[in-house]
Formats: sequence, C-alpha cells, structure tokens
Amino acid sequence: HELGLVAVGFSGGQCKPGVDAAPMALIESGLVSQLKADLEYDIHFDDQVHVYTEQMPKDDPDYRGMKKPRAVCAVTKQLSNQVYEHAKQGRFVLTLGGDHSIAIGTISGTAKAVRERTGRDMAVIWVDAHADINTPEVSGSGNIHGMPVAFLTGLASEPEPTKPFGWISDEHKISVKKLVYIGLRDVDRAEKKILREQGIKAFSMHDIDRHGIGRVMDMALGWIGSDTPIHLSFDIDALDPMWAPSTGTAVRGGLTLREGDFIAECVHETGSLVALDLVEVNPSLEEQGAAETVRAGVSIVRCALGDTLL
Ligand code: ARG
Ligand code: MN
Ligand code: MN
Ligand code: MN
Repeated sequence: HELGLVAVGFSGGQCKPGVDAAPMALIESGLVSQLKADLEYDIHFDDQVHVYTEQMPKDDPDYRGMKKPRAVCAVTKQLSNQVYEHAKQGRFVLTLGGDHSIAIGTISGTAKAVRERTGRDMAVIWVDAHADINTPEVSGSGNIHGMPVAFLTGLASEPEPTKPFGWISDEHKISVKKLVYIGLRDVDRAEKKILREQGIKAFSMHDIDRHGIGRVMDMALGWIGSDTPIHLSFDIDALDPMWAPSTGTAVRGGLTLREGDFIAECVHETGSLVALDLVEVNPSLEEQGAAETVRAGVSIVRCALGDTLL
C-alpha cells in the first residue's frame, strides 16, 4: 500500500513556539521506519519538514480578528495542493503537524481528491478536546488553530476570492452532516451554539463516560455510514495530559492512551480511512513529558495505519 507523508513545521495558528519541531521529533523516534518495516507501507516522502519560508509574508497584521492570517493562508493553500497530489494518486495521506490550523490545508486537499476520484463527499472524524469551529468573528483568542473547521465547512467563508482564505472553494469543503467529533471537553460558548444550530454530531467526554468508547465508536461510524471515505484529524490534546502533557492547550479529563489508540484502530478497521493528521505535539513545552507525548503520537499513527495488538 502507498502512503504520502507530509511533514509540516508550522506553528503560526497559535502563539507558542515549538509545535513546528514535532514532525522531526516523530520521525526521529522511528515513526517512518516503523511504517515501512512493520506495516509494509511504500512511503512517498520528500524528506523534508516544510516551513514554507518563501511564502511567508513579511507584514501580517490582524484581519477579521485573526492572528497571522496571511501566514496561515499561505501555508494551508500550499499544503492543500501537496495533500491533493498524493490523494489523487490513491495514496493514503499522513500529515504530521504543526498546529491544527494546518487541517485547513489537509482536509481541503483530500476532500477535493476524493470528490474527483469517487464523486462522493468525504467524512471527517475530528478527535480533540476542542471543537476548533470558531469563526473569526466569535473567536476569543484570534488563534486560527481554533477555527479550521469553520473554514472547512464554509461557516467562515471569505466574501471574495481575493481575500486571504478566498482560495477555499466548494470542491475543498466538507459537509457539517459528515463531520463527527470525539473527545470534546473545552468548547467555547459560541462554538456550542454553532454545534447546536448546525446539528453537528459530537461525542464529548461525558458521552464516552456514559457509553464507553466501544459504543461511541459504533455510533460515530454508524453516523458516517459504511463506504464513505474518512479523513481522521487527531489533535494530541484529545488525550489526557497524563499521556500527552506536551501540547499547547492541554485540558484535563481526557482520553486514555488506549482510548485514543482504540479510536484509531476502529477507524482503520472500516477500510475507509484515506488520510490522517497528527497535530499539536509540542516537544518544547515539557522537559519530561515531551518524549511521552511523542510516543503517544507514534502509537496513534501506528494504530490508524493498521497496527494490531495480536
Ligand atoms: N477554543 C480555543 C480558541 O479558539 C482553543 C482552541 C484550541 N485549538 C487547538 N487546536 N488546540 O482559541
Ligand atoms: Mn510507490
Ligand atoms: Mn485541541
Ligand atoms: Mn485541535
């Protein structure tokens, strides 16, 4: 099986440096060699962590309340094409971030390729402590890593194609009906309103406590339906800080390492997974916890790519 790997060293969707070092940390810990040797993937990787320096604007004032709008726009637009090029050749696309703003690039790229290849709308499973569905206008922080889902679903559309995120067109977008959240526990007021009004399927930590992760996965995958291509966007902060402390917006009361791996295993078992993002690992935040957090990330990726316990 063929796999396109994209390493994105980008931290401009939020304010803490260090998340750009995650792809290298994940690769150095043996991720790529494990995918080749243990899971027998044929990996297409340009052997570089992209930082997109040529595309970086010198001057990047706030726009619609967003911080670093042009930088995020330039990176995601370029990334969207990179991901699209892999996906249109039928490759599974693994993207190592980077903060979660990069999902604007990855999901738009796979959504477009899936439409062209199959004529169908792709589903997205967003595993995260956060909903990342703030529009620029309602965001409290102005950090774009809290907004990618709003851009991808069209809720934060740019009025004109000439504006920063105006490059996102209909072929790049996903339907709110095919979006499922798992692990939520820190959702802003305005985001809760959006989830309610749009009828978006979301399984919070409360739902996982009540039903157990097994039933939650049955319900989540049942909502998407079989035979629909799935993009899994996994924010490491979905895991409890006990397992993944080295991340920019850690929230207590999260998934165990096994629950995270189980989600990835279940999505793999559908046979419909076409792409995976692993984001928000920040090796510089914790001296002790960095290695553990990287290890948790590697484990999630392995499970999503078909590693089994037996
Ligand atoms: N909701 C908060 C915000 O809008 C936090 C977002 C955290 N997002 C993330 N990808 N870790 O800023
Ligand atoms: Mn090949
Ligand atoms: Mn998060
Ligand atoms: Mn996130």
